[in-house]
Amino acid sequence: MQLGIENISFATSEYVLPLATLADAVGVEVGKFHIGIGQENMSVPAPDEDIVTMAATAAQPVLEGQDLSAIRTVLFATESGIDQSKAAGVYVHHLLGLDQRCRVVELKQACYSATAALQMAVALVARRPEQKVLVIASDVARYDRDSSGEPTQGAGAVAMLVSSNPAVLAIEAESGLHTADVMDFWRPNYRSTALVDGKYSVSVYMDALRAAWDDYREQGGHDLAAFDRFCYHQPFTRLAVKAHRTLAKHSGELTDEQADEQIANTLDYNRQIGNTYTASVYIGLLSLLENAEEDLSGKRVGFFSYGSGSVAELFGGVVQPGYREMLRTARHREQIQRRREIDHATYTRLHAHPDGLVGGDHEFTPETTAPFRLAAIRGHKRIYETVAQVSAPADASEVGASETVATDTAATSL
Ligand code: HMG
Repeated sequence: MQLGIENISFATSEYVLPLATLADAVGVEVGKFHIGIGQENMSVPAPDEDIVTMAATAAQPVLEGQDLSAIRTVLFATESGIDQSKAAGVYVHHLLGLDQRCRVVELKQACYSATAALQMAVALVARRPEQKVLVIASDVARYDRDSSGEPTQGAGAVAMLVSSNPAVLAIEAESGLHTADVMDFWRPNYRSTALVDGKYSVSVYMDALRAAWDDYREQGGHDLAAFDRFCYHQPFTRLAVKAHRTLAKHSGELTDEQADEQIANTLDYNRQIGNTYTASVYIGLLSLLENAEEDLSGKRVGFFSYGSGSVAELFGGVVQPGYREMLRTARHREQIQRRREIDHATYTRLHAHPDGLVGGDHEFTPETTAPFRLAAIRGHKRIYETVAQVSAPADASEVGASETVATDTAATSL
């Protein structure tokens, strides 16, 4: 029996900050961002967007035409959670009208947890092949302003329906694993922005890659020559290039040029969106499937999933014949292209107003044009709503206008 991804879709935010604008503002040569880290734009959420609204927007098309009663599990992976107790997936379950006979849970281990969710989903479906699992990964990547991580911020969500009819990608059983207690990137509960030891994080990412590969081979996994393409966790796209060259050298099987060819097209979307933490490696998969000209049917794709702290997993999947019929290429490209560009002043305003750590009531006027929005936070409760189609404010000065000042700053909502 084949198990894996039957359907997959992604969503990103309303606004976009070109990294050329950031480079100008912080006095950095733009080549450092465009070439040095391989990023061109970063997605920036509107005040009425968050991990729940992006997740619901990503998942809605995946559920079209599905028998919702077959979806008895929702696994929500995130490291930018909105509540220390309630799973964000419960809001999404409601917004999408899923069956109440369903288990919903949130998983956390930095950028890795969507892969844990995927593997758990496969295991659940192996046990009950008539059931399906909705796996969602949704994150807003935030660092302090003027920090090394700032140009790698981003926002996005991916939704995958896992079933015994893997019309997009059949996931193979062999997996290489690696866990190491390291402090390369972390976010204590009292912070809304991550702390990172940037250069160290790159070095332990590479260590984890080599170790996970060695374990993958020991577990009976294929040699590198058996893979046609590779998708990496991409906090910035240049890292994927370096990572695959590292793996090529480590396995001694590929030249740099061959390694670069294997990750071509997996970088296209991430370069425009930025780091999406848990969603990043699977947005890379969509980028490959939707932007590669060649027919990938029957091709084996390798995945390297890394979450700081750290946990890593390497595994393979085989693209299924007919996968192109399952894609929403036009919709996804539009998601990226229709984002509204903001200037640096607006970005700093949006960056300064995280809603996670300060209590108080907030009403958010519509800014997002997505089908779901965060309407308000009242009495420490987040109120979401479904909207048919919200038209964008005509005046650019209205961008970020819905941010409200906390009226009860003494309260902490965590
Ligand atoms: P930095 O220290 O500001 O940059 O940030 P740099 O000085 O090392 O420059 C970067 C590259 O740009 C260098 O190339 C420069 O030569 C080049 P390299 O030596 O790397 O090949 N450069 C230029 N190129 C062309 N034209 C120019 C120019 N100027 C310089 N004019 C750093 C780099 C990665 C540290 C930073 O982006 C950072 O802190 N990022 C956040 C941490 C991160 O993403 N780490 C990745 C591994 S950890 C991970 O993946 C997990 C994570 O997603 C979180 C999670 O799991 O939850 C982060």
